[in-house]
Amino acid sequence: GLKKKEVNVLCLGLDNSGKTTIINQLKPSNAHAQDIVPTIGFNIEKFKTSSLSFTVFDMSGQGRYRNLWEHYYKEGQAIIFVIDSGDKLRMVVAKEELDTLLNHPDIKHRRIPILFFANKMDLRDALSAVKVSQLLCLENIKDKPWHICASDAVKGEGLQEGVDWLQDQIR
Ligand code: GTP
Ligand code: MG
Repeated sequence: GLKKKEVNVLCLGLDNSGKTTIINQLKPSNAHAQDIVPTIGFNIEKFKTSSLSFTVFDMSGQGRYRNLWEHYYKEGQAIIFVIDSGDKLRMVVAKEELDTLLNHPDIKHRRIPILFFANKMDLRDALSAVKVSQLLCLENIKDKPWHICASDAVKGEGLQEGVDWLQDQIR
């Protein structure tokens, strides 16, 4: 049959936002990890959609590893940026990291699609995707296609909508 188009995706966002949990849910069920631990450095994972074969750079969000992100920007053809919707205290840190990403020379002038997950929507005090999008000033992103989905990565909710959008941006 036809070979699926290969796409490199960078999965970015603060530590504990749920990046690895999201990527784990997108993998085929026989490849699901049993328990998920904080990522050290980064891991490379793969998942497929109907038309694409994604290679994901699942980066650690811990402060001491965030300087690794930029080394992979050139290779990335799409970005998944994950936010912990319940972590109001660090929303400003998430915004700083997003702004640094958007202003990086390897990202700034590219029409690279960015999929945001407002994750942990199951938490009682989680902010809505609209509120997260306001706090991160996503409306200011004019030169790149972007989309935000509320998600619960533990239950796997909201992920498919996001990945469908991403696939449409790349085809
Ligand atoms: P780093 O690798 O350290 O950057 O973190 P990460 O962004 O990969 O987070 P990870 O996937 O390891 O998840 C961190 C914790 O949040 C784990 O205990 C997950 O089970 C939990 N978690 C992830 N997604 C959700 C969610 O949607 N809801 C809730 N309640 N917990 C979640
Ligand atoms: Mg991780």
